[in-house]
Amino acid sequence: MKAPSGNASLMKPCCILNRRTPDLQNKPPMSTVYLNGKFIPIEDALIPVTDRGFLFGDGVYEVIPAYGGRLFRLSHHLQRLQNSLDGIRLDNPHSDAEWKTILGTLLERNHGLAGTHNDQSVYLQVTRGSAAKRDHSFPEHVIPTVFATSNSITDPDPAVTEQGVAAITLDDIRWQYCDIKAVTLLPNVLLRQQAVEQNAAEAILIRNGLVIEGSSSNVFVIENGNILTPAKGPQMLPGITRDLVLELAEQHRLPCRETGISEDRLREADEIWITSSTREIIPVTLLDGQAVGQGSPGPLWKTIIEFYRAYKESVRNGTTE
Ligand code: PDD
Repeated sequence: MKAPSGNASLMKPCCILNRRTPDLQNKPPMSTVYLNGKFIPIEDALIPVTDRGFLFGDGVYEVIPAYGGRLFRLSHHLQRLQNSLDGIRLDNPHSDAEWKTILGTLLERNHGLAGTHNDQSVYLQVTRGSAAKRDHSFPEHVIPTVFATSNSITDPDPAVTEQGVAAITLDDIRWQYCDIKAVTLLPNVLLRQQAVEQNAAEAILIRNGLVIEGSSSNVFVIENGNILTPAKGPQMLPGITRDLVLELAEQHRLPCRETGISEDRLREADEIWITSSTREIIPVTLLDGQAVGQGSPGPLWKTIIEFYRAYKESVRNGTTE
């Protein structure tokens, strides 16, 4: 065996020290993640490279906001998780009660990192686990990989909500099961990147001349005081925020309807909104470089966002889910 050179053995501890010391001093507190039954520091969370989520994108996920430590519309997210798991023929590794305990514990563990409001966003993912050999077909015995993490979130940037955002339209290049919240997001990634490269916050996807959804959001169009959104189906993700917007509109007697929306109607809209758990309700004020309506957030957006914020507060203080 070759002996280490004197220089190398002398240098090593000193290099490690020099590289590590500043890190340790400035290191932010480490977040805790859940992985396969354990709550562990994120740096210790490792999965095999044979995981089918890694090799095939063979898994599903959810993103759930939590306000004041309370999970927003958890039962709706867990129902959608079940639908996604059914869609890829993977058993749910946990009951709803178990999920509630896991995610609640995760939020508690990361509370110290979450700022004064304790607002966090939970990401959970279930994949079809690992197999000894790479093979497209399902392994005989599946032990799923179950992962969850939470990060602190803040309210949407007021500059964004005051001015609105730009969006572009793009052809929907995705597959035919977009109602499954699959981790296989390459088309969405490429579409969103195209938007970013054109200084836009979102790509609104068009299929067969109809508005479908955004690359990671649902879309609303306001026409003569009517709130319109495409009807659910396999071509789009049934957004939890979308459903809440419709519920709030109905509750407050704002005219709203699920309907097909042509690309032309999108371009002539008085207002356009995009919705998601992380972005809430964002007004789109520029579409493909053209002003939407007056080119600023419209009156119906100002109304709906107040109802949404009130709902969020009711989750925070525990009077609703
Ligand atoms: N995405 N459509 C797509 C394609 C999405 O990826 C999302 C959300 C939505 C909105 O769904 P919800 O209101 O339930 O968040 C619609 C999440 C936030 C993500 O992938 O990070």
